[in-house]
Amino acid sequence: MVLFKFVEIQPMYTAVLHLHNLLRYVVVILLIIAVAKSFISWFGKKEYTSTDKKISLFLLISAHLQLVIGLGLYFISPIVDAALADFGASMKDAQLRFWGVEHILSMIIGIAIITLGRIMAKKATTDSAMHRRQAIYFLLAMILIFSAIPWPWSTVARAWF
Ligand code: HEM
Repeated sequence: MVLFKFVEIQPMYTAVLHLHNLLRYVVVILLIIAVAKSFISWFGKKEYTSTDKKISLFLLISAHLQLVIGLGLYFISPIVDAALADFGASMKDAQLRFWGVEHILSMIIGIAIITLGRIMAKKATTDSAMHRRQAIYFLLAMILIFSAIPWPWSTVARAWF
């Protein structure tokens, strides 16, 4: 029965997984740009421009879109299903622990930090404080998100595309 259900949703699962994989690059590139630009502008005492505002907005949108797609995947992924079937045993398996807990938890916290960073930057009263807050929050989010990506060289390796 479970297998029958999966055969029915398999094409959708594959399409959504590809989309989630590709959107990763948008988030990764925007994070690198946002962190680098925030630090350069903070130390260089630069103005907070409309470009800075746009970069942080696009980062927020792409991260939230990735969150929605990831949540959808969570309910149809066979590996998450396997991880949740016997949670205790899954914690002893690097692959199942990664897909059942580590990836999801780190990404949700990372995206929450991006959201918080944007709110805190908006509340700041000087341009320097805006850059500083964005730099610190976005760097933290970047470390967390990068550490939970299944890079091809990691133990939970997935393809580049
Ligand atoms: C910035 C945030 C995120 C990034 C960069 C990211 C990245 C990735 C990548 C690269 C894959 C492997 C895709 C493939 O094998 O083709 C993946 C799979 C997956 N992600 Fe994310 N992800 C993010 C957020 C999330 C969130 C928030 C959730 C859940 C709430 C989630 C749930 C999943 C699931 C369930 C899979 C599929 C596992 C499978 O069936 O093989 N992701 N993610």
